[in-house]
Amino acid sequence: MNTRAIHFRLIFWYSGMAVMVSLAFGAYTYRSVQMRLYAEMEQTLTRRATQIAGNVLAHVPVENRGKIASRIHAVYSPEAGSHFIRILRSDHSILYVSGIPKDDAFDPRQVPLPPDNDPRVRIEPLPNSSSMMILSLPVNETGRHYLIEMGALTDDLEVALHGLIMTLFFGLPMVALITSAGGYILVRRALKPVESIRATAEQIAFGNLSNRLPVACTGDALEHLSVTLNQMLERLEAAYEQASRFSADASHELRTPLTIMRSELEAMAREKNMPASLRERIGSVLEETERLSRIAENLFAISRLDTGEAKVQHIRVDLATLAQSTAEQMALLAEEKQISLHINTLIPVFVYGDSARLKQIVVNLLDNAIKYTPGHGMILLNVKAASHKAVLEVADNGIGIPADALPHVFNRFYRADKARTREMGGAGLGLSIVRSICQAHGGIVDIESREGEGTACRIELPLANGEEQKG
Ligand SMILES: Nc1ncnc2c1ncn2[C@@H]1O[C@H](COP(=O)(O)OP(=O)(O)O)[C@@H](O)[C@H]1O
Ligand SMILES: [Mg+2]
Repeated sequence: MNTRAIHFRLIFWYSGMAVMVSLAFGAYTYRSVQMRLYAEMEQTLTRRATQIAGNVLAHVPVENRGKIASRIHAVYSPEAGSHFIRILRSDHSILYVSGIPKDDAFDPRQVPLPPDNDPRVRIEPLPNSSSMMILSLPVNETGRHYLIEMGALTDDLEVALHGLIMTLFFGLPMVALITSAGGYILVRRALKPVESIRATAEQIAFGNLSNRLPVACTGDALEHLSVTLNQMLERLEAAYEQASRFSADASHELRTPLTIMRSELEAMAREKNMPASLRERIGSVLEETERLSRIAENLFAISRLDTGEAKVQHIRVDLATLAQSTAEQMALLAEEKQISLHINTLIPVFVYGDSARLKQIVVNLLDNAIKYTPGHGMILLNVKAASHKAVLEVADNGIGIPADALPHVFNRFYRADKARTREMGGAGLGLSIVRSICQAHGGIVDIESREGEGTACRIELPLANGEEQKG
């Protein structure tokens, strides 16, 4: 689990807060129920004590213990209701105490006398491990001071409170669980638009710059984010288009003058009675002009593919057959360097595309492999279908590409070893063309290489109808 993820942190804080709030609420509930129950009991006891003072003590001749007892017994029957009643004189000697209750819940004679400070209410622990709330009411009757003590067991209250504690105790994990689950759903829902922005942005990053992010009209930060990113994309697209436009226009403008120059030079070279040295120089200029033409043509092709101006045909093509025939045409170049060329294109692999441009891919890759593999080397061409993709691989055991150059080989005009490749006639556009054609076909290209060991270039294109050829 990724604890730094925004999902986790939000759910963590959300559930944590929910648990804290529930704990605080539980404590508050418990405390207020407890206070309320005790307050009610105290009220009842006060009422009874007041009644005893008014109904019994006021009407009974002083110190007639028998009468007091019989009257209290007649009116309240403390033994039947498990009540405790005691009347004390001012010196704490007992004038009356109720009898042992019927349910034997406590022994009234064992209830301790009140402490000297005579508290109004006290909780007295009893020997049988229950407790009693005792209310003391001082009364003044015919010049004498009495203390009426009225008591009741708190056991029932404690049982109720214990039940409440249990409910809260088992309720809390439930609250935590429910809030976590709810939090998870909420967070997922809240972050869904972010995920959709990310997914679309990714598509744009690897695909078409002219796509735009979805804008949810919610007026919140997410809408602003989408709008801002879309503005950024607009500027990026404009800048990119301008750059591509420039290369396309420049290479297009160069084509015509270069063609004229070439034909002029060719005409000059055919001129009779020309000094041999001049003819040679014209030949060399012609060669450079042809090179320049090729560069302009290639640049023009890349620019048009990248701007999407070049229409790529979508015809069912067997990549295997195409690769094989192309390789056979180029086999002579390999033979000249005594490089062995192994072609592994056993089964047909169909893709939709432009066969002339797909052929260009094979030519450029084989051209590189032959160029950058010393004599007696080996080249492997492999076409297959793998995981719903058409795969074309060209591997060699040539000079390889230095690790620091590898990330740049698809850039236009990039050559790992400038001096060397110029001799070989490369302008650094071969792999750029391969990549542009691949992208125009919805595919990808990848290159792996180790300096001094060899290079492997791999193209993946969508299979025709997504079908996978068996074999
Ligand atoms: N098979 C390979 N072996 C070694 N280096 C390679 C290979 N293919 C490409 N490269 C390197 O990548 C650079 C770019 O390749 P590319 O775009 O085809 O340009 P070039 O016109 O030089 O062939 C080359 O200059 C070369 O340094
Ligand atoms: Mg090349």
